[in-house]
Amino acid sequence: MSFIRHNPAFAGQIAALYHLKPGDLFLDLTLGDGRHSQEALEAGARVVSVDVDEDSITRAVNFLLGKYSPVIVRPNTINSVVPPDFIWLIIHANFTVIGSLAKQYALPLFDGIVADLGTSQNQLAIAERGFSFNLEGPLDMRLDTSLGVTAADLVNVLSTTELTDLLLLADEYQGHAIAKAIVTARKKTPIKTTGELAKIVTGVKRVTSGKINPATKTFMALRMAVNLERESLSLMLPQTPDLLASGGTLGVISFHSGEDRIVKHFMKQKQKEGILRVVNVKPIKPDQNEIQTNPKVRSAKLRLAQKH
Ligand SMILES: C[S@@+](CC[C@H](N)C(=O)[O-])C[C@H]1O[C@@H](n2cnc3c(N)ncnc32)[C@H](O)[C@@H]1O
Repeated sequence: MSFIRHNPAFAGQIAALYHLKPGDLFLDLTLGDGRHSQEALEAGARVVSVDVDEDSITRAVNFLLGKYSPVIVRPNTINSVVPPDFIWLIIHANFTVIGSLAKQYALPLFDGIVADLGTSQNQLAIAERGFSFNLEGPLDMRLDTSLGVTAADLVNVLSTTELTDLLLLADEYQGHAIAKAIVTARKKTPIKTTGELAKIVTGVKRVTSGKINPATKTFMALRMAVNLERESLSLMLPQTPDLLASGGTLGVISFHSGEDRIVKHFMKQKQKEGILRVVNVKPIKPDQNEIQTNPKVRSAKLRLAQKH
């Protein structure tokens, strides 16, 4: 399968946003297809990239073949050794444990940290991963394939009330009707595929906009629940100030108001504590030029804070 590389929000802007210079240390908590990491490498920074999805790591390495060759470590395997003079280090792990990884691998303090939340276009494009309502596949949605619970497990087990609450994660306000339809459908036969779920949602949801697929929010909420995305963000953020050098910058790109709120409150709180300084009171959004060439990033919001 050949892939078109994921085009992230703020592509081409990382070096400038972080004022990166040769020799800086940069931590990319969400490697994806590796564009943000590449931009930091090209600015002369040494880069540590993290991703929980093995496929993303394989793709990023392939996209940069012949340009940069990383040292790759997997914390769960023994003999993972990090040479002190690495240029590009990739860690296959969840960013929720970044604090202990930094200790385990004796990582130096960073001048910049970025987290570009969610999934890449290529993860959505693989039918077998089960993220897309457009592609028939198993209802899976796990970024970390070693996790035990899939989206199919959730839709076949949770009660109507639990499903309604889950759907609120992605602001799906017609969640009760959708949850009832799911529970009715699964009484006949368990819901196993993306297509089956999309059909159930489409059959019951009142459509208010012709542009957006009625199943969009249901799929997003399930993905957020399967991968504990809000919880992971809330666990990761408090670990980051200790990883930054004085003057270093933390940046988080989010695509959903609930996540942006978590980032905003965290940065404000750390500012009150005198640990971080909020760089931009209002989130930075992609400009019209970027949205025109890459419409998928239209809801992106970037917040930056600098360590004192
Ligand atoms: C939006 S993509 C990042 C794209 C990337 N900035 C680029 O330039 O291609 C998000 C990536 O973060 C990864 N990810 C999501 N949650 C994660 C977590 N808790 N820990 C580590 N990686 C995570 C996903 O697997 C995905 O590859």
